[in-house]
Amino acid sequence: MKIHNLTQQPSVLNTFIAEIRDPEIQKDSLRFRRNIERIGEVIGYELSKDLLYKYQEVTTPLGVKKMQLLQNEVVLCSILRAGLPLHQGLLNYFDAAENAFISAYRKPLKAADDFEIIVEYFATPSIENKTMLLADPMLATGQSLVAVYNAIKEQGIPKEIHIVAVIAAKEGIEFIKNHFPENTHLWVAAIDETLDKKGYIIPGIGDAGDLAFGTKL
Ligand code: URA
Repeated sequence: MKIHNLTQQPSVLNTFIAEIRDPEIQKDSLRFRRNIERIGEVIGYELSKDLLYKYQEVTTPLGVKKMQLLQNEVVLCSILRAGLPLHQGLLNYFDAAENAFISAYRKPLKAADDFEIIVEYFATPSIENKTMLLADPMLATGQSLVAVYNAIKEQGIPKEIHIVAVIAAKEGIEFIKNHFPENTHLWVAAIDETLDKKGYIIPGIGDAGDLAFGTKL
C-alpha cells in the first residue's frame, strides 16, 4: 500500500485540519462540514495527479488545443454517514464520477469497549475494473474499512483503490495494510498517534458523524 501523507509538506490544508480539531469551532457544524469538504477537495486534487491522462483535442472558439485529460472511470464510494461531506468535496473535483454509498456502524459487544462492524446498506454502480475512491474521514481501527472492502469485493474487483481519510491513526494504517491489495493508495490529511479504549483517534476530533450532523440515539 502506498501512503500519501499530505501534511508531510505543510500547506493551508493544516488550517482546515486545525479548525476541525478546535472544540470552539466544532460548535459550528456548517463550518465543520465545509472544512471536511475542503479537505476532500484538496485530497481530490492531489490524488488526481496520480491518475491516468491522455492527450485529447479541445476545440475553443479560436482554435484547437491538445490537453491531457482524465481517462479513469471513477467510482466514489463513501461510508455513511460521516463520509458525506468528504464525498461531496471529492465529487466537486471528479465531475463524472459514479457514486456508491455503504453503511457501516459499530455494534457494541458484551465485553466493555468491544464492538463489531455491521455493514447493511450498499448502493453501487458496477465497480469492476474501475478506479475506486473510498472515503472514510476517520481511519481509526481500520475495521470498518476492511468490512466495507469485503462487501465491495462481492460486487466486483476495482482496478485500483484510493482510500481517502482526513485523519488516520497509526494502528489503523497498520491494520488496513494487511487487508487491502498491494496497489491500494492511502491519501491522508493527518496521521495521529493512538486510539482510546473506545477506538476513537487521539487527539483526533471526536465523532465526525456527530460533529457534521448532530448526535444520534
Ligand atoms: N470515528 C470518528 O468519528 N472518530 C474517531 O475518532 C474514530 C472513529
